[in-house]
Amino acid sequence: MSVRKDMPCGTMLRVTGPATVVVEKGRVLLLGVTYGSGSRLLIKRMRTYCLKALEDTTVSVILGTDAKVEEAKPEEEVLDEWLEAVERALTSNARPLIIMVVGPVDCGKTTLTAIAANMALQRGFRTAVVDADIGQADIGCPGFVSAAFIKQPILYLSELYPEFMRFVGVISPMPSPDLVITAVMDIIADVIRHGAEAVVIDTDGWFNSLEAVLVKARLIKAVKPTHVLVVIPEDLGWLYTALYRKVGRFNIAITRLRVPKVRRTRGRSERRQLRELAYTKILAGSRRRRVKIGEVAMLNTSMFSGDPMPPDKLSSLANLLGAKPLYGEVVGERAMVVVEDYREVSADNAKLSEITSCERTKLIKASSERGLLSAIIGDDLREVAPAIISRILWDRGEIELITPWEGEVRGIMVGRVKLKFEEGFVREECKVRGSPI
Ligand SMILES: Nc1ncnc2c1ncn2[C@@H]1O[C@H](COP(=O)(O)OP(=O)(O)O)[C@@H](O)[C@H]1O
Ligand SMILES: [Mg+2]
Repeated sequence: MSVRKDMPCGTMLRVTGPATVVVEKGRVLLLGVTYGSGSRLLIKRMRTYCLKALEDTTVSVILGTDAKVEEAKPEEEVLDEWLEAVERALTSNARPLIIMVVGPVDCGKTTLTAIAANMALQRGFRTAVVDADIGQADIGCPGFVSAAFIKQPILYLSELYPEFMRFVGVISPMPSPDLVITAVMDIIADVIRHGAEAVVIDTDGWFNSLEAVLVKARLIKAVKPTHVLVVIPEDLGWLYTALYRKVGRFNIAITRLRVPKVRRTRGRSERRQLRELAYTKILAGSRRRRVKIGEVAMLNTSMFSGDPMPPDKLSSLANLLGAKPLYGEVVGERAMVVVEDYREVSADNAKLSEITSCERTKLIKASSERGLLSAIIGDDLREVAPAIISRILWDRGEIELITPWEGEVRGIMVGRVKLKFEEGFVREECKVRGSPI
């Protein structure tokens, strides 16, 4: 179905996808970018964007299933307020310009980030976008903070591909928010080193409690943005006030912005589906490859820090356990022993420790590494690509990875999410606590 809409200059239209907007005559503003007649703008499923006519304009909108077009009343539309706030930031003299977008989930942070990035680009800034939303990642893989330079106007942040990444390893900033803070600081230093004049940061939506406010204040303290744009619903104004009391006294322009009135909220399963699309975007072109464990640094794991157990110890353990361990390692006072399935072994720890000569002996199930989201670490200790640990071949001392990375592997940093790679699509299996290996 297609509808034609005349848009007198200054009026706004809200379009919910899947829909294609064709500008027949005139000019519209979408995400801070002007599109003239002949432009075709694709609004994705479950996305709502607001278009503004910059002159008397006619558009036709081709509507897919569940798509919608409605005239936006000026009093309920936030677009002008958002554009003004971005404009103010872009006309300030601060260099590099660092704009951070903060707010609860589904309040328009990512949309506002795209607007700010587009507008900075159009003003001639060499502009980098940092995606610090590890749970709803748009640029890079979930579990990573990613960044990219924007070269042409975008309609979706997900059009960008990560040029820089830092692995956090989890998909929620709780309970270790400092992992995200460190990653964001580190990646901003990188983009500035690469010449960014404007940096726009999209953050995670954990902004619904005092604890969350304190963490965002810590992020602001660490990053030192020049501008903070806070999108916040009217009834949650206290969150803004609390944040303002922490960071408002300093040399940072902090602005409160309204959220779109008619906005869609995403449920848990929808958020997970979106995450799976994001994993797939980055990992789809992956291949399986093996690396020798002895030749890489395994980061974020307990295992592969000490010395392998000598064969005679493994044999003694085999007698006690009733099955030969696949691998054993001693590091300091701790022994780690990999067994096929520890449910079947009923060895008492004192006896185990007698053989291993260690205070503590931990039995580890052989398949517990399978599916772990990880990062390949390059020469200079920077993340170069995500990877899934497919399995460890204990007998060969090899680790099998699923990764798009084809270069040298210096290190593998192991995360806390398990994924399944099936026919080019990535499914999220579960989160794990601590390092399984
Ligand atoms: N001006 C607007 N009016 C109505 N809905 C909007 C508007 N701008 C964005 N949205 C929609 O609001 C939803 C949440 O936006 P998003 O930018 O993804 O938020 P967040 O990043 O804070 O979760 C999306 O479906 C988006 O398309
Ligand atoms: Mg978002």
